[in-house]
Amino acid sequence: MNLTGREVVLGVTGGIAAYKSAEIVSRLRHLGAHVHVIMTKNATEFVSPLTFRTLSANPVVTDTFAAPEYWNVEHVALAKLAEVFVVAPATANILAKMAAGIADDMLSTTLLATKAPILVAPAMNTGMWTAPATRENIRILRERGVRMIGPDSGMLACGDEGAGRMSEPEAIVEEIGRILTGGKDYAGKRVLVTAGATRERLDPVRFLTNDSSGKMGFAIAQAARDRGADVTVVYGSVSVPLPEGVRLIPVESATDLMDTMMKKCPDQDVIIQAAAVADYRPEIRESEKIKKKGGDRLVLSLVQNPDVARAVGEIRKPGQTLVGFAAETEHLYDNARRKLDSKNLDMIVANDVTLPGAGFNTDTNIAALITRDGTEELPIQTKRKLADRILDEIIRLRKKDQSASD
Ligand code: PMT
Repeated sequence: MNLTGREVVLGVTGGIAAYKSAEIVSRLRHLGAHVHVIMTKNATEFVSPLTFRTLSANPVVTDTFAAPEYWNVEHVALAKLAEVFVVAPATANILAKMAAGIADDMLSTTLLATKAPILVAPAMNTGMWTAPATRENIRILRERGVRMIGPDSGMLACGDEGAGRMSEPEAIVEEIGRILTGGKDYAGKRVLVTAGATRERLDPVRFLTNDSSGKMGFAIAQAARDRGADVTVVYGSVSVPLPEGVRLIPVESATDLMDTMMKKCPDQDVIIQAAAVADYRPEIRESEKIKKKGGDRLVLSLVQNPDVARAVGEIRKPGQTLVGFAAETEHLYDNARRKLDSKNLDMIVANDVTLPGAGFNTDTNIAALITRDGTEELPIQTKRKLADRILDEIIRLRKKDQSASD
């Protein structure tokens, strides 16, 4: 990515993630961008303005209206200069101010005045992120076209676990690059993503399931959304917050998933199946809770579920791109290649779910992208980063198909 001479304004607000914004500045500078930092007063409690001044090689504006003496331009000059305006980390407070149009310091004033695309990277405690006021502010900002990246889920600085962690600087810089280079490469594309685990009921209160959290599928949905796609997410049981700005369809079992996919798939351009679907379900679903019977054994009889991905492959329309995942514990490549063919996929994302940092319920993954052109082994990376890599590869495959059919 080359951002030579592009003007990026970075607003830094007061959160522990402020230290990560130093890396955003370094990365942007490395790509050739000019970076101008505005810090709120609270942000200066976390990181010194000198850090940003040194890294950006530009004066840093703090929340006072007294611009630095050597910076002899009007106070909203940065609003005009910005080609993209990034707020990272964005606290609940700045989001509320942006939603309400409050301009009571340099950052909020400049944000209100700018006509540049705005990207916010929220970072806060899970309780604040899920508070009704924040949900409403996010909805308002999205409606106005403010772009969001993250927050990610995981362990937060306050010790809580959940949504609220600022996205990684690398992902934020990639998103800035996409905005600056007109990178809405999925605009006009309909993308369907499956996520989470199916539940196969034994009785009204018990089910068979697996460890899928929904993180991988949701990361893909969010990345596709951020790249301009019209996204539908069909999701089973998940343990992380649902993505915003996408169409959400909940399902429970593999059979439900099958019904939904048969209805929704025909009018999609890209279908990415990251859900962990049970291969078997109980033969009998008891209508009442199973009671302890005499003897110390209960034998369950299981029957095979439909293979949803295979069925989607059988009804594929010309121009569609189908991607599956392979969750393996042995013979990763052989098993994944077999699934690529048997399910009539264009690509399979193979992950060895026994590796630390890969597979179920982790924030990172270690995967290989397998297509009929070959196999690309990828290093460990965040699920969001992998999601973007998968979407890049889909673009490549679609271009190749397009030029073959021209
Ligand atoms: O949700 P996370 O916690 O982030 O975890 C991510 C993940 C480990 C679930 C994800 O990376 C992953 O590997 N998803 C696929 C899980 C799976 O079911 O793999 P599989 O090898 O059993 O199935 C291969 C493909 O066929 C998958 O695309 C699956 O969605 C699909 N399938 C499988 C069985 C079935 N009956 N119907 C299907 O459509």
